Parts: sequence; C-alpha cells; structure tokens
Amino acid sequence: MELNIEIHLSAYSRINEVNFNDLGFGRYFTDHLLIATYKEKAWQTAKIIPFQDLSIHPALSALHYGQSIFEGMKAFKYTDGSAVLFRPEKNWQRINTSARRLCMPEIPEDLFIEGLKLFVDIERNWIPSGQGEALYLRPLLFATDSFLGVRPSEEYLFLVIASPVGKYYSQPIRVLAQKQYVRAVRGGVGAAKTAGNYAASLLAVQEAKKKGYDQILWLDAIQLSFVEESSTMNLFFVIDDAIYTAPASPDGTILMGVTRDSAITLLKKWGYEVYEKPLNIQDIIQAYHKGTFQEAFGTGTAASITPLAAIGFDDQEIMPIANTGYGPISQRLYETLTGIQRGTIADELNWLVRVPEYIPFT
Ligand SMILES: Cc1ncc(COP(=O)(O)O)c(C=O)c1O
Repeated sequence: MELNIEIHLSAYSRINEVNFNDLGFGRYFTDHLLIATYKEKAWQTAKIIPFQDLSIHPALSALHYGQSIFEGMKAFKYTDGSAVLFRPEKNWQRINTSARRLCMPEIPEDLFIEGLKLFVDIERNWIPSGQGEALYLRPLLFATDSFLGVRPSEEYLFLVIASPVGKYYSQPIRVLAQKQYVRAVRGGVGAAKTAGNYAASLLAVQEAKKKGYDQILWLDAIQLSFVEESSTMNLFFVIDDAIYTAPASPDGTILMGVTRDSAITLLKKWGYEVYEKPLNIQDIIQAYHKGTFQEAFGTGTAASITPLAAIGFDDQEIMPIANTGYGPISQRLYETLTGIQRGTIADELNWLVRVPEYIPFT
C-alpha cells in the first residue's frame, strides 16, 4: 500500500453497546474515524483515530457558506467472512465531481480507496451480516477556514465515519410529485452530493409526509413535468416492458447514482430496453390508464432497490401494477445486486473490492 497513514487504535470498543437486532440506520458509530487535513495546498498525513467529537470555530466556513460534500457507500460481509466494498472507485470519482463543482480540493485515489480499505479492516467486527445489513460508510469533506467572506476555503477536513445499518426502507414507499418546490436546476448543484441539496429537500418531504407520502418524486425545475429522482434514490419506471430513468451527467440535475449505474448495466445485460431520457409524468399517468404501467422503483446505496407503491400528483394517485411489493424486474435486480454484494452470486462484472486483512487482531 502506497498510502502513509498513522493509526491510533482505541483502547476500548463500544461494540457491546450496539443492539445488532435492531440497527436502524445511522444510529450507531464504530470505534474509529479516518481524518485527513488539507492545508497549504496539500493533503497532510491521514490518520485513523478513536471516534471522537470535533471542535469547531464559530466562523467555520462550511457552516456559513456550505462547502460540504459527502458520499454514501457500504462494506458488506462476504460469504467467506471477509469484507468487501462495492464499486468504491465510483464514489471516489463522484466525490471529486462534487469537489470540482464546489471549488474544493480533489481527494487523491489512494487516500480515498486505500484509506477506506484500511479503515474498514480496522472496523471489520462491526460489519453486520443479516439480510439487508451492511456497514454504511460516510466519507465527508468540508471547509474549515475560520473566516467570514464568500470565497473558497483554503483549508479542509476529510473524514470517514461508519455506521452498522439495517434496511433504509422496510417496505414499498409512496412518493408525491408536486410543483411547489424543486430540487435542482440546470447549471446548479443537483449532480453534486452536497449538504445543501439535502437541506433544501426537507420542507417538501415534511409536507409530503403530512399528506401521507414517504418521499418526494422531484420534477424538473423548468417545465415541472419530467420525473427526476427522489431525495435518497434514483428512480426507474417500467412501462410496456421498456425501462425509463432520468438522464445523469456531472452538470445535470440528478445525482449520478452508483446503484443506478449498476441497475442499468444489469438490465441491459439481461436484454431490457433502458432509456436514459426525460420522461413526462403525463406519460406515466397515461400508461397507468392503459394498464401498461408495470413497475416503479428507486435505487440507492442506502435504499438498495425499493419499490414504489404509489405516486401522488395533482390530487390523483396512480400506482404501478406491482404496487404491493417487488415486481419481476425490481425483484430480479434486488436479488442479483444483494447476491453479488454478499457473494451468493458470482461477481462477473468485477464490482467488488476485497478488503485485505492489514491489521492482525490480538
Ligand atoms: C439525491 C440522491 N439520489 C440518488 C441517490 C442514489 O445514489 P447511490 O446509488 O450512489 O447511492 C442518493 C443516495 O446517495 C441520493 O442522495
């Protein structure tokens, strides 16, 4: 390994405080964190240290001006007991796409990938092995100048924290398409995984929940007609045996999901027609009335493959034929993806990265 990294192991593990029978999501954190500082235009030596609070300056520029980006990825317990990462190079590429958009320094590949492998190796006892469970990894980069004034920060912190998690959604979800709020617009930061995008989505989701929905189905910001994504997942629609999903690019309006890309790759491999193009919500409504709206589902690291039970729009509600659970396509995707991640299905596409055992446990 090229990476020079200092390791300070915790004297005590909190693992016995965790209720592994009811993990929830993002509730528990492992014993360590990975931390690296960027200053004087260079990355300083990374460290793995005991999990701890950070102290912050009240003028911390991430808090005031929002230079804060992150990733979400998972380490899985493989059939042979080892730990694997799923397509980590995709998350590395995406965090750097986000970094460029937000005028932040890019993260070197060895810091991100090798740092994560070493970190996951140290936390390997925390990877849960139940159905739908994994160690969720949260790389995070934010601006740390203590300075008031709108300009890119000169100093940054890169952190990785980890949380053993269960399923994010335990059942099909109901989404609301509405025209009052938008998530992203062409030329904005929709394709960046930046904190403000999530803050901006909260009010719409809160109001949707009051109307009996779980999430928003975001429409495009200009015509308020084309389906984009949800706040936690990319979305797919199966109409008349063809599959549609919104187009994604680094300067686009949706997040370039790793699960989205994996789903498209598998679907094409299986011979399905997949269209990455704008789909008007009226076309979905029409298909519903014709009886050809077969399935709808979301894809995401946290959500895996989650079926949509219903879509609310303009005081009406439509639902795919498969509205109480997985349909044939989402079921096959869910089983294949989770099978590859856990080692019960061969990793023919080389998506998994093994975590070597660097650190012998005493
Ligand atoms: C807004 C948004 N879209 C899509 C996704 C799915 O992306 P991925 O499959 O890389 O987790 C996420 C989750 O990270 C998200 O937050």
